[in-house]
Amino acid sequence: MKIPELLKAIDGLRSPRVAVVGDLILDEYIEGEVRRISREAPVPIVEQKARSFKPGGAANTLANLATLGAKALAVGVVGQDHSGPQLVNLLAHLGIDTEGVLVDPIVPTTTKTRISAHSRQSVTQQVLRLDQLPQAPLAPSTLEALSQTLEKVVSEADLVVISDYGNGVVVPQIIEQVRHFCQQYAKPWVVDSQEDLRLFRGAALLTPNKPEAENNLGALIQTPSELLTAGQTLLEMTGAEAVLITCGDEGMSLFERTGTISHVPALNKTEVFDVTGAGDTVVATLATAMASGSPLPEAMQLANLAASIVIRRLGSSTTTPAEMRETLLQFNPKEMAPHD
Ligand SMILES: Nc1ncnc2c1ncn2[C@@H]1O[C@H](COP(=O)(O)OP(=O)(O)OP(=O)(O)O)[C@@H](O)[C@H]1O
Ligand SMILES: [Mg+2]
Repeated sequence: MKIPELLKAIDGLRSPRVAVVGDLILDEYIEGEVRRISREAPVPIVEQKARSFKPGGAANTLANLATLGAKALAVGVVGQDHSGPQLVNLLAHLGIDTEGVLVDPIVPTTTKTRISAHSRQSVTQQVLRLDQLPQAPLAPSTLEALSQTLEKVVSEADLVVISDYGNGVVVPQIIEQVRHFCQQYAKPWVVDSQEDLRLFRGAALLTPNKPEAENNLGALIQTPSELLTAGQTLLEMTGAEAVLITCGDEGMSLFERTGTISHVPALNKTEVFDVTGAGDTVVATLATAMASGSPLPEAMQLANLAASIVIRRLGSSTTTPAEMRETLLQFNPKEMAPHD
């Protein structure tokens, strides 16, 4: 697509209601300084200087939807701990509807803590990542409560996203409910899952990254022709209307049931700082564009542009239509022309 067309596509983004069902995660960042090694064990002692929190996983997809201008509705589970209210507050501050977030006192809020530190003349680097994950499947009563919430949320939303990080919310019973209510209320559903994609039969769009696509196929994707085969096979395997495979710095490829295949190269390979959460930005942008009426290839171009912006920042991040417009205006038209 040419720059004027993409600018028009950005202008076409509306404020649809998009529900996200999935694994809400709190990302915690602790930064400090190391001045000595412990006497208790041969480990560095990190003196904490700063601590911050960001939405992660499905919560990052929600944050991305909010900054893109969508009305985002959260459906997921948090625990009755410090992280739970922290995460709900982060989402609420972004204007996200958190009514569908259930509090389950017997689960921990999924929390990923990155401890980074520098010593006197060194750069900051990650020392440890500490994950707090659910240790058991969700209780039947919690799943039942989630199902109840789902009908209301699906009926209110224009589109539903499943954001599955394999942390316990996206189990077959919940997938079945999403499929059922989306069918009943004629709402499209989009799936970003690290798990078995065959569970999501009938989705409008699946957005695996290359390793996830490879896991599902049981085969590596190393050549353009293997990528084409992968796209077609995933369409057949999952019965999805479309499959979009994100390939990191090789961009993304879209396979539609109609037979249309579109590719887009990654836009920004020189200023990459942190690709964490780029997939969340991709699915949030696709969802906003689709629910605003964009055709899928155009939605993919917008998602690719949004991803090229968030990978310049540390940790999971978000962007806005205004920033997408500005970024586009800085591109050299010749840079984009060969890929039309
Ligand atoms: N190194 C990179 N250089 C340029 N663009 C990139 C790079 N990595 C990711 N991107 C952009 O982000 C998109 C999504 O990246 P990727 O395929 O890594 O998703 P992902 O693995 O699902 O991410 P996540 O970690 O959020 O799950 C890519 O299609 C591309 O547009
Ligand atoms: Mg991903």
